[in-house]
Amino acid sequence: MKILAIETSCDETSAAIVENGAKILSNVVSSSVKIHAKIGGIIPEIAAREQLKAIIPVIKKAFASAHLKPTDIDAVAVTSGPGLIGSLLIGVETAKTLAYVWNKPLIPVNHLKAHIYANWLGKDSPTFPNVALLVSGGHTDLILMKTYGKFKWLGGTKDDAAGEAFDKIARLLNLGYPGGPMIAKAAESGDKNTYPLPRPMINSPDLDFSFSGLKTAVLNKVKLLTETKPFSPTQTSNLAAATQAAVVDVLVSKTIHAAKKYKVKEILLAGGVAANKLLRKEMAERFEGKVLAPPVNLCTDNAAIVAACAYFNYQPKPWQKIKADPSLHF
Ligand code: KG4
Ligand code: ZN
Repeated sequence: MKILAIETSCDETSAAIVENGAKILSNVVSSSVKIHAKIGGIIPEIAAREQLKAIIPVIKKAFASAHLKPTDIDAVAVTSGPGLIGSLLIGVETAKTLAYVWNKPLIPVNHLKAHIYANWLGKDSPTFPNVALLVSGGHTDLILMKTYGKFKWLGGTKDDAAGEAFDKIARLLNLGYPGGPMIAKAAESGDKNTYPLPRPMINSPDLDFSFSGLKTAVLNKVKLLTETKPFSPTQTSNLAAATQAAVVDVLVSKTIHAAKKYKVKEILLAGGVAANKLLRKEMAERFEGKVLAPPVNLCTDNAAIVAACAYFNYQPKPWQKIKADPSLHF
């Protein structure tokens, strides 16, 4: 079965054609991140306008690079939420129109679940039960996955998401947007022990997270260091390394805690922050079971993960019933 999937939840416009939920025939991603980078964060109206410009060329390119035509596909899938309403609407309304005109089944997909299904697009397929750590710009969630489509939410962030913490701290350090990759890069030449940072909630018995205190700790450090003279590149790298070490330590400790509590032998990483090399390395080193992570280019937003989720949860709906839902949850 070949599924055309469309993803427009935030600042990426993507279309992919995937066979049987695992073989990517094409996966085209166009991003407006460079426009947002100049401002230092996402402006929803600009993101939506860019989605509208990109959507048709991106879908055409997905067909062209797979050497397929609309009659070759079996179904259309689309991210229906969560995300920015203006961005979501572009993908949802386009998918509804195409499914109607081509007379194909239409499958709405939850973006959060799609991130987890990115793990089915790697070399090694996941097994059940597993604990998934979903870490993105908007989410930090621990989920127990019992089988396809069976998710139990175990805990999440009480304030900032892990990616959001990286993005906000990167802004404090003048490292640019998106913050995660910038902090990871600056951390390469830094010493994580020069400015020790707190690990919020690391030993709490629940499976929740909190990252806003970490941001405040970095802010206080920055204020202190810049009182007398401007920030040096070494100080920036050291603070980036300390930030990355603190976030990764909390994420790894809590995820292993969840895996032990629910007696599972497999951990799945998902979401944009799962691209982080230190997170992947420390989770694999510290967990006694198996750790899977999607290929790095499939961690951030793309439509192939939407197609994988649609294939393993094949539940088409009449187009009239499909609506963009910005606050859709697990
Ligand atoms: O999943 P995603 O593309 O979009 C959302 O659904 O939110 O995640 C984007 C987030 C951003 O906060 C970005 O800073 C973070 O993922 N990110 C990373 C890395 N690459 C992206 N964080 C840490 N290390 C990375 N290499
Ligand atoms: Zn995402």
